[in-house]
Amino acid sequence: MKKVLVINGPNLNMLGVREPSVYGGKTLNEINRRLEELAKELKVELEFFQSNHEGAIIDRIHQAYAFSDAILINPGAFTHYSYAIRDALSAVGLPVVEVHLSNIHAREAFRQHSVMAPIVVGQISGFGHYSYELGLRALRQELERENDK
Ligand code: DQA
Repeated sequence: MKKVLVINGPNLNMLGVREPSVYGGKTLNEINRRLEELAKELKVELEFFQSNHEGAIIDRIHQAYAFSDAILINPGAFTHYSYAIRDALSAVGLPVVEVHLSNIHAREAFRQHSVMAPIVVGQISGFGHYSYELGLRALRQELERENDK
C-alpha cells in the first residue's frame, strides 16, 4: 500500500483553539481522524507528523525519501518564507500537495505568496479542514498517474 506522510507545521497543533473564525473549530486530531477514514477508502497508509520547528520538519522530509511515497503538507507560516523546507521537498523528489485551511490568497499580503507552490504538484487553499481531504484525494490521483507512466 502507498504511504502518504501528512506534515503540519507551526501552530497547527493549536487548531480548535487558534482563531476558529479563520481556521475552523476542529482540532488537528479530529482532522487526522477524518483523513484516516478517507485513507481506508483510498487504500493508502498515512503517517502523521506535526512540528513547530523548521529543522525537525526538514529531518522528517528527508526520512520520507526512504519510507514514504508522497507528502501532504500544511507548512503553516513556513509556507511563506522557508526556502529550507522547499529545498527539502525538492530534494526528496516525492509528489507533494500543499494544503491550507484558509484561502491564503484572500488574506494579508505576506500570506499570499507561497515559496512551496512552484515545486508542489498543486495547492489547495480555503476549504477549511476539507482542504486536507481534497489534498489526499489529489495525491492519490497523482500516485495513480505516476503508476501509469
Ligand atoms: C495556514 C495559513 C498560513 O498563513 C498560517 O501561517 C498558518 C495556517 C492555513 O492553513 O490556512 O499557520 O497554512
